[in-house]
Amino acid sequence: MNGTQAAGALLQVEDLRVAFAADGREIRAVDGLSYQVDAGRTLAIIGESGSGKTVGCRALMGLLPASAEVSGSARLRGTEMIGLSDSELRRHRGQDMAMIFQDPARSLNPTMRVGVQITEAIRAHRKVARSEAHVQAVELLRLVRIPAPERRFHEYPHQLSGGMRQRIMIAMALACRPKLLIADEATTALDVTTQAQIMELLLDLQAELGMALILISHDLGLAASYADEVIVMYAGKIVEQAPATRLFGAGGTVKMRYTRALLDAIPHLERTAHTELPVVSGRPPDPTALPAGCSFAPRCPAAADDCAAKTPPLTEHAPGHRWACWHPCENGVPA
Ligand SMILES: Nc1ncnc2c1ncn2[C@@H]1O[C@H](COP(=O)(O)OP(=O)(O)OP(=O)(O)O)[C@@H](O)[C@H]1O
Ligand SMILES: [Mg+2]
Repeated sequence: MNGTQAAGALLQVEDLRVAFAADGREIRAVDGLSYQVDAGRTLAIIGESGSGKTVGCRALMGLLPASAEVSGSARLRGTEMIGLSDSELRRHRGQDMAMIFQDPARSLNPTMRVGVQITEAIRAHRKVARSEAHVQAVELLRLVRIPAPERRFHEYPHQLSGGMRQRIMIAMALACRPKLLIADEATTALDVTTQAQIMELLLDLQAELGMALILISHDLGLAASYADEVIVMYAGKIVEQAPATRLFGAGGTVKMRYTRALLDAIPHLERTAHTELPVVSGRPPDPTALPAGCSFAPRCPAAADDCAAKTPPLTEHAPGHRWACWHPCENGVPA
């Protein structure tokens, strides 16, 4: 809050809000996010489609359309990102923070050799000669474990597999060795084996380069396997946040039924004895007409009158564990 940066925080987000206008109505895509990411740590941001995961991260990067109304604060290494001009943001993008997206097929230029695309990413941020950028690009290909990088440099995106293309995207994002890397569904389009390889690569690179990592996904399984900390989003808000170790495994203490439902949707995780709770049905609310009180109440099997009357605040109830619910689960299972 008051502009101070918590010790150790690389990124400190306070009351971040993003709204769009749609036919005269307001879409509250991100509705008051506050969290921090420490250097070298991995945060997973999880939630159903439309919960505001991408918009919240694009706001940090200054990558939203001009129609987006952004307010609140996001300080990266102490510098406020919200409200910076395009040229100021460009200086931070690449150097301090970078983002990789779900669909490399759309993000890469099909008519340009991949090595040249990496070279251009380097030269967009640093004044280096083309020959030096070439050397650095090959080095980046090696960094992302692409075999025969000198040869691959000259290939076009269509000559590479999906996993290889995603490695190229990672190489481009790492061109200036950012302190924070945001991976938005970066492995969703890949088969399970390739997905695991790319995730291992990201974690290796994180350790090698000392980066913080934000993993955006709708898949709580990914968070269980790779994250230190988990944020669960619903209708633009954080509804639960905890260290991964508190949520997953036999001793997991999930508090929100929404998180519980996401967890129960993971096929390969061991289920606890008491997961008869039907996976929560229904759809996320219309973002232009959010229900009063708790946005999840209309779908929640435990909803009572107070849920629709008053919005539960996101409060830290146990060390590092925040949740926003009037009737939380007990011992990780519905009360
Ligand atoms: N440019 C835009 N104009 C208007 N509304 C937008 C725009 N971009 C996103 N939205 C809306 O903002 C809300 C949050 O979208 P966002 O893309 O952040 O969801 P998400 O959690 O990343 O979902 P997914 O898992 O499908 O990627 C959605 O209701 C979406 O329709
Ligand atoms: Mg998204």
